[in-house]
Amino acid sequence: MRIDVLTLFPEMFDGPLNHSIIGRAQTAGIVDLHLWNIRDFARDRHRQVDDYPFGGDVGMVMKPEPVFAAVRHILQKEESPVILMTPQGETFNHRLAEELSSEPRLLFICGHYEGFDERIRQSLATQEISIGDYVLTGGELPTMVVIDSVVRFLPGVLGEESAVKTDSFGMGLLEYPQYTRPREFEGLLVPEVLLSGDHGKIARWRKKQALRRTLRRRPDLLDKIDLTSEDMELLAIIQSECDES
Ligand code: ADE
Repeated sequence: MRIDVLTLFPEMFDGPLNHSIIGRAQTAGIVDLHLWNIRDFARDRHRQVDDYPFGGDVGMVMKPEPVFAAVRHILQKEESPVILMTPQGETFNHRLAEELSSEPRLLFICGHYEGFDERIRQSLATQEISIGDYVLTGGELPTMVVIDSVVRFLPGVLGEESAVKTDSFGMGLLEYPQYTRPREFEGLLVPEVLLSGDHGKIARWRKKQALRRTLRRRPDLLDKIDLTSEDMELLAIIQSECDES
């Protein structure tokens, strides 16, 4: 996958995307990341990228010309979704990450200052994404969040392909608890079933734990998935255990 990012602060991406799993995905050629400084596309003497808002208001607005010039330069030969990172966009989630991971390329525009000239939104962006109902100082961190979660879906990025299916949200549920050695830590024991070697029992225990955790923390998620008859049975057991305690 090729990913282009338009930003006023390309250096911000060096740390988070050049290490660990995403760093390795780049080295392996699974993801080809290109960072572009919007200021390099400003044609005036002062390389100005922002200006005062018409009508008067607080703060500055990102000018359209450099952003349009950059996108046109990058997408001369090929098409790509053009994603504007903004708190006004569609809220990002697991489903959207998976959807974006099937695109051969993506282009992100990171905003700064008080916002964008509306024409960037109107005739350049094909999609607007928010990472949540809060406002950050710029679109760089949100872009890194989206890139990280999209790249996880690309084949060969995670050691175990199945990891993206079983982690939180993969099956529409929060993930079950995980344990590693030692078997006992400060008096806290690993559940016996995980040491049993009985894969059927372990799978059922994990399903029950995932259902219990989702029911307690994010009951809204249960409304969005098709529950199997085993899920219903396990939920009834969880409910009866709650009633007892
Ligand atoms: N830019 C500033 N805040 C943002 C958010 N919550 N999501 C996406 N882009 C942003």
